[in-house]
Amino acid sequence: MPDLSTQLHTKMLDSSGRWRSRRSLPRRIYRAVRRELASSDVYGMDWGDPETVAPLKFVRDRWVLPYVRDDHVAVEIGPGGGRWTRYLLGFKQLYAVDFYPELLAELKKGFAKPNVTLVQNTGADFPGVPAGQVDYVFSFGCFVHLDSPIIEAYLANITGILKPGANVVIQYSDTNKIMARELLPGFAENTPEKMRAMVAAAGFTILEEDLTTLWHSSLIRFTL
Ligand SMILES: C[S@@+](CC[C@H](N)C(=O)[O-])C[C@H]1O[C@@H](n2cnc3c(N)ncnc32)[C@H](O)[C@@H]1O
Repeated sequence: MPDLSTQLHTKMLDSSGRWRSRRSLPRRIYRAVRRELASSDVYGMDWGDPETVAPLKFVRDRWVLPYVRDDHVAVEIGPGGGRWTRYLLGFKQLYAVDFYPELLAELKKGFAKPNVTLVQNTGADFPGVPAGQVDYVFSFGCFVHLDSPIIEAYLANITGILKPGANVVIQYSDTNKIMARELLPGFAENTPEKMRAMVAAAGFTILEEDLTTLWHSSLIRFTL
């Protein structure tokens, strides 16, 4: 804790005053309209924009951007409208894998790029993704809805596409958290304990976990 001579709190008060003045009605309306215009073109932004929502920003900066390399190949599972896809465009090649053609059509509206390949799968596979070539796999907002047998099938299939030393980052439902357990009926029954066991059983080494940043889910990073 800072000592009593710290200016921390007076500085916070100052900036809070400035913040209040920025909260005038016309300014709030202007900012709301600007926010709406900026984000409404990407399906899924209603769940939170990683540009502005602090925990999502943290996920972007800590679990996504450090892995993006222009000589690496990536797979995103369940890209939706591209809320996270936009941070993966710096990869040499990105395979965006989704089960629903409607969602791939939505993604195509904003992400028809030469280095992005849209892949429709049958639920847990990677058709057309070259074996042993993938450096990074990312999934957010998808595994939270998947039941264990589908997660296990995905994990088994991920082993086939990875390069040695690749990183897999998956956000999954954490029903140890009350929000996943009681407030979000679409969230699957899963916990860090179950997820760890499934990841280990598929032959991966767990490198890192984040059980605290998100209020309804957790993150795990693993490699082969
Ligand atoms: C809630 S949306 C999240 C979209 C995006 N990742 C985001 O965070 O905004 C779930 C996405 O997962 C896709 N999806 C659902 N089940 C899937 C599966 N078994 N395999 C691949 N994608 C799946 C949906 O079509 C959708 O694109």
